[in-house]
Amino acid sequence: MSEKLTLIVTEDGSHSLYHESLKETYHSFHGAFKESIHVFMLYGLDAWLMRNPQKKPIRIFEVGFGTGLNAWLTLVWAEQNQIPVLYHTIEPFPLDEEIYSQLNYGDIDDGIFHYKPYLQRLHKANWNEGVVISEYFNMKKEQTTLEEVRLYPSDVVFFDAFAPSKQPELWTKDLLEKVSQQLNHGGALTTYCATGELKRNLRELGLTVETLPGPPGKKEMTRAWKP
Ligand SMILES: C[S@@+](CC[C@H](N)C(=O)[O-])C[C@H]1O[C@@H](n2cnc3c(N)ncnc32)[C@H](O)[C@@H]1O
Repeated sequence: MSEKLTLIVTEDGSHSLYHESLKETYHSFHGAFKESIHVFMLYGLDAWLMRNPQKKPIRIFEVGFGTGLNAWLTLVWAEQNQIPVLYHTIEPFPLDEEIYSQLNYGDIDDGIFHYKPYLQRLHKANWNEGVVISEYFNMKKEQTTLEEVRLYPSDVVFFDAFAPSKQPELWTKDLLEKVSQQLNHGGALTTYCATGELKRNLRELGLTVETLPGPPGKKEMTRAWKP
């Protein structure tokens, strides 16, 4: 996969990236910020917390660190809720500083402006080792692929790979099984994707699958719980 990337502005004013050779954006064109809040914070972390109010820390695994938007919003969530998070994320194609230093996520919502500097800290953090980023947020960012990574047990999985139509090799039943095997009982996998094949595969792997309303511009998304 080549890495020719262009910075774009999505409909809620937040940045995303356009991957020229895949002809695919890193987030929904209808709003990167809104999509991440909806799919991963509200239907991921908040939903998990409602079911597991006592369990700390939360262990999160993310497929595709990319712009760092999900990681950064999770850091904000962890600090605001005072819940310790251990965040494991993978990315085979880290962004250049020239790109990540332009990302405007810290300017979208005045209420969390205070956390703006942490986005750069996430990007600058050393790869392949555990790093304390803030009081409630520890991260291990690995430069590797989903195919290669050795997973830890997790409570919440942010499955944020490029769409199955663009990168089908990341949505195979084998890779979903690899991830779901490491999902703790009571844990959830959340993704913007809502294809029938994904839901069928997750069901066949023994997960309880929900189809939920999608973020702006998207009818549906998927969340799957490990019983
Ligand atoms: C849809 S983007 C989302 C990125 C990120 N979550 C964000 O908010 O910017 C998908 C990401 O998966 C990464 N990726 C590509 N191939 C991968 C692989 N084999 N394993 C893991 N991640 C991969 C891409 O480089 C890209 O950063």
